[in-house]
Amino acid sequence: MNILEGKHIILGVCGSIAAYKVAELARNLTLEGAIVDVILTEAAERFVGTATFQALTGRSVLTDMWKLPEDGVVGHVSLGGEADAIVIAPATANTLARLSAGICDDLLTTTVLVTTAPVLCAPAMNPNMYAAAVTQANIAALRQRGFTLLEPDEGRMAEPMIGKGRLPAVAVIEGELRALLGRRTGPLRGQHVVITAGGTHEAIDPVRYVGNRSSGVMGYALASVARDYGADVTLISGPTALQPPTAVRLIQVESALEMHDAVHTACANAAILIMNAAVADYRPAQVVEQKIKKSGDTGLTLQLIPNPDILGTLAQRQDVFKVGFAAETQDLLANATAKMARKGLQMIIANDAVASIGQPEIAVTVLDAQGAVVPLPRQPKQQMAVAVLDMIVQNYCGWYAGLSGVSYEA
Ligand code: C5P
Repeated sequence: MNILEGKHIILGVCGSIAAYKVAELARNLTLEGAIVDVILTEAAERFVGTATFQALTGRSVLTDMWKLPEDGVVGHVSLGGEADAIVIAPATANTLARLSAGICDDLLTTTVLVTTAPVLCAPAMNPNMYAAAVTQANIAALRQRGFTLLEPDEGRMAEPMIGKGRLPAVAVIEGELRALLGRRTGPLRGQHVVITAGGTHEAIDPVRYVGNRSSGVMGYALASVARDYGADVTLISGPTALQPPTAVRLIQVESALEMHDAVHTACANAAILIMNAAVADYRPAQVVEQKIKKSGDTGLTLQLIPNPDILGTLAQRQDVFKVGFAAETQDLLANATAKMARKGLQMIIANDAVASIGQPEIAVTVLDAQGAVVPLPRQPKQQMAVAVLDMIVQNYCGWYAGLSGVSYEA
């Protein structure tokens, strides 16, 4: 499922130079299937035009509390009542102040006052205005009332000045919106989901390691989808070059031992563990303190010792729904089935190691403890994460009902 599909989002745009950036947000949300109604404040119209947002959303852009759009679909009060979420980006100091005081003298502030939907504000303003005590007090008051306020980015402002006041990246605003929607209606709302991603690095000396080709893409994609589904996500990641997903708790580790400890800590109160990481089965017996020098033409022998099997060490945790991955180069289904039983898993996702590790696309076969075997065709990992998470949700509901006698409503 796509958490944005069919959702009614109001995008309030205020008068800041960063207003041009949210045209991309309007476009992305619309492409994801959301119904996006854009409200421009009077000041916003000095920076961006209605035609841009109208073309991107395919809907009339709203600017005036006293004028209904030509298609007459919304009244100025009904808009707030119908919304699934309101995003205010960029949110200026002036609009935050008016919202904080409950002033409703334009369409945006009126809509926010009417709504019971979650409100996400992405401030952007002059760094001194942001730091001003009154702005900070307004932000604190709004947070206390349940508004979500993002932190502005630091960096070069449009005016020649460096500071904290830049609009957060569009991807960050979208990720936070997905998390908000998920926490309201997602099938995993309220559940703590732990996901491991990437490969581990097993140190040989201070500069060298034993590792594998895992990119982390699949695990990061699973984390962002679980977040969209409303889960409270802990992503435990080996070293990767990826941008971490927004609204996810990221714990970075290097080695299998570090991952073992992080997984055990995170699983103390987890509902679901998805072990997607390509954990190194072995590590050097000793980590040499200084960089190993080449010595003549003789070879170098590394002695490797086994790492703990992280899933194996959680075998007693029958209160956690555990999903493993099996990347194999031969006898895929037989090996995956045996691993699921040996590691006490509820599901295992089998895939061809060579065709998937480090690749942008993946084909998998999903196996569960009841004997289901479901092949899913090769597709981009982000898309596959949705298909896999949908199957995990379905299985988890049945498993939870069996475990507790209480049905879990996704
Ligand atoms: O035994 P194998 O490594 O093939 O099993 C793969 C599954 O076990 C994956 O889910 C992986 O994350 C997990 N694993 C683990 N601890 C290890 C090695 C793998 O939990 N030391």
